[in-house]
Amino acid sequence: MTQAQGLLFESFQLGAMTLRNRMVMAPLTRNRAGAGLAPTELAVDYYAQRATAGLIIAEATQIRPDGQGYINTPGIYSEAQVAAWKNVTDAVHAKGGRIVLQLWHVGRISHVSLQENGQRPVAPSAIQAKAQTFVAEGMVDVSEPRALELDEIPTLIEDYRKSALNAVRAGFDAVEVHAANGYLLDEFLRDGANQRTDAYGGSIENRARLLLEVMQACCDAIGADKVGVRLSPVSPFNDLKDSHPQPLFNYVVEALNTLSPLYIHVIEGATGGDRKVDPTFDFRALRDRFHGVYMANNGYDKASAEAALKDDAADLVAFGRPFIANPDLVRRYALDAPLNELNPATLYGGGAEGYTDYPALDEQGA
Ligand code: PHB
Repeated sequence: MTQAQGLLFESFQLGAMTLRNRMVMAPLTRNRAGAGLAPTELAVDYYAQRATAGLIIAEATQIRPDGQGYINTPGIYSEAQVAAWKNVTDAVHAKGGRIVLQLWHVGRISHVSLQENGQRPVAPSAIQAKAQTFVAEGMVDVSEPRALELDEIPTLIEDYRKSALNAVRAGFDAVEVHAANGYLLDEFLRDGANQRTDAYGGSIENRARLLLEVMQACCDAIGADKVGVRLSPVSPFNDLKDSHPQPLFNYVVEALNTLSPLYIHVIEGATGGDRKVDPTFDFRALRDRFHGVYMANNGYDKASAEAALKDDAADLVAFGRPFIANPDLVRRYALDAPLNELNPATLYGGGAEGYTDYPALDEQGA
């Protein structure tokens, strides 16, 4: 790898971690958790196969049971889940890799069949999203949520804090607070989903309050140099709308500066889609405002990632789908080798097929 040309293959100091390269594996939902919503031995292989990434961000993982919105996504709230994740982090570390856990609460993007006693999912306000989720019966419309009561918010923040501590006990190098893609923390940020009239709704300051309090709690618990955050300022994913994303996210990033988190991880465009969905939004303004590490994501390939690093538009670049189909993506990019094709049919749920059986170059006789 030392011969590889390009900024992508340079090492990078991220908090206390020295990353071997600047390629990050993005968090990817694969719906393959086992009993008790714990990762299985297959997940251990899957992540270990991808340990040559400079950093792995493990899939979105529930902080508590009502944070689940899809079938068979893992959690980090039970002792069995902590123990199972420890197998994953040990395997990645044994190969010299680094791994972060993404802390997730889906908010209103859930279905009563996934909730205890069939209760309604929780959200900032009782506004149903025009979105679908994947449950035992297949794809269904998400359920109508109920608004979180003001006195439920301290417990919610405490559950993020406990999850951050659990992640560290499970051997993760850091956590990433999921504040993107129309899930709970993103819902609080946006005026299209948050119509609260208390301290957590209304003004930009109020809508950003929950995210900032969650970040503060996680930073206090495990250290700010172990807490990153993911944002998707313009993504319409999961029916999320906001009237003025630029001032909202300018404010969020400036407020985050006061906490000095490990990084911001920014989905630049529509999640998994069009990078130009809102051509008026200035991502460079976020990059320039933020005093720490900026991780870029969405539709990058080797050439566009190299260009972003060269232009100083990013410090790190996260790749999603390319890492699903290519466990040795770093080596393939370094050698300009051809990539495996992704099979969309095996993305969500199932077993080894489309999960741990994508071959590395060596296994293809290259
Ligand atoms: C999904 O399950 O489709 C999913 C989960 C988390 C995301 C985005 C998509 O951030």
